[in-house]
Amino acid sequence: MRMYDIIQKKKDGRELTTAEIQYFVNGYMGGGIQDYQVSALLMAIYFRGLNERETADLTMAICDSGEQADLSAIPGVKVDKHSTGGVGDKTTLVLVPLVAAAGAPVAKMSGRGLGHTGGTIDKLESIPGFKAVLSPARFIAQVRRVGAAVAAPTGLLAPADKKLYALRDVTATVDSIPLIASSIMSKKIASGADAIVLDVKVGSGAFMRDKQSALKLALTMVDIGSRAGRRTVAVITDMNQPLGYAVGNALEVQEAIDTLKGQGPPDLLEICLELGATMLLLAGMVDNVQGGKRKLLDLLKSGRALNKFIEFISAQGGDPQVARRDGVLPAAKLTVAVPASASGYIKAINAAIIGHSAMLLGAGRENKESQIDPSAGIILQKKVGDAVKSGETLALIHANGTERLDQVKEHVWSAYQIGDNKPEPVRLILGSIPGEL
Ligand code: URA
Repeated sequence: MRMYDIIQKKKDGRELTTAEIQYFVNGYMGGGIQDYQVSALLMAIYFRGLNERETADLTMAICDSGEQADLSAIPGVKVDKHSTGGVGDKTTLVLVPLVAAAGAPVAKMSGRGLGHTGGTIDKLESIPGFKAVLSPARFIAQVRRVGAAVAAPTGLLAPADKKLYALRDVTATVDSIPLIASSIMSKKIASGADAIVLDVKVGSGAFMRDKQSALKLALTMVDIGSRAGRRTVAVITDMNQPLGYAVGNALEVQEAIDTLKGQGPPDLLEICLELGATMLLLAGMVDNVQGGKRKLLDLLKSGRALNKFIEFISAQGGDPQVARRDGVLPAAKLTVAVPASASGYIKAINAAIIGHSAMLLGAGRENKESQIDPSAGIILQKKVGDAVKSGETLALIHANGTERLDQVKEHVWSAYQIGDNKPEPVRLILGSIPGEL
């Protein structure tokens, strides 16, 4: 077999065999195949695509490049949840304790973010003392004892994804549905969960800008999951404005805590209930999503979800006072208002611009070496559909320096569109697969 022939075949739009896909992934990992040939193949895949069988084969080849977590020592159905990424997306912080409080074990590997705001691990690390690096034995022991653990993945899970993603990042081949689907699903399968709930985000702050592409990505990932023997459901959700009000690591942790106390933003609560109930359904704990939502609401009302959060945070070294009193999370030195320059209704908020602004403040990484500022970020004061008067505050910027403040103020202001008429209410849950759309 020759890499040249594989590139040529895909360039011509022909189907690659399982053996050819394994050959290129293994050869790349082994050092026998170089970046330049893999780059050419990625570009051929970008233009010609992969069918479902090829995509599943690529996923498994990436997954088999490393170890697979063995969660068999944890009793019950282990359900994982993954979001394709959005601005202000702190659902994992709410869902982990909420679903664990319902009795479903949550053994979650989460990443650090690049760009926008940080990933779930960056957010959790804004809690003083929280440790995200756990040995496999400690991770499993914690899930058995507490019902929940969130750990940074080791480099041993799907290492080919890291190498391929780095190459895609510099060859303009990230936004290919089969490449995104295989990248995400290889890591989910390697993480060892029995069932997977995917939150596929669509809109201005998401990878998928239109509903057709989100649907295609969702169908592709669900197909990969079923071929790998993992029950997989994808929920397609709106990401045309940030989720909730807070964007930035410690600010998002605070909003997640407020949600666990029953005082969170309605959009965040709605998505958490939908995803959480779907997780309970896949775990076999409820008969339908409606029943799951009722159960989760009870856990929020009774305070059991909040108690589970405190238990899980403390188990990983985090200060439990974070959920009990103010002043535990790091706070920024400056808070600056962004005023509206017209009266009317908020017509749209460009989530990508808000995410980029938060990143400029230090809430996300500009490059791999950047240090996160856990206290920096933005708190929206107005969301789509809200009435606004000229001069009223649209958003509050939380910053620790004045260097980029004017630029960020300008950016945040430009993310808002104000119109004369009240827009239609935002539909948050656009459908699920398998299910109705
Ligand atoms: N997230 C991933 O893990 N991989 C991709 O390719 C895109 C988003």
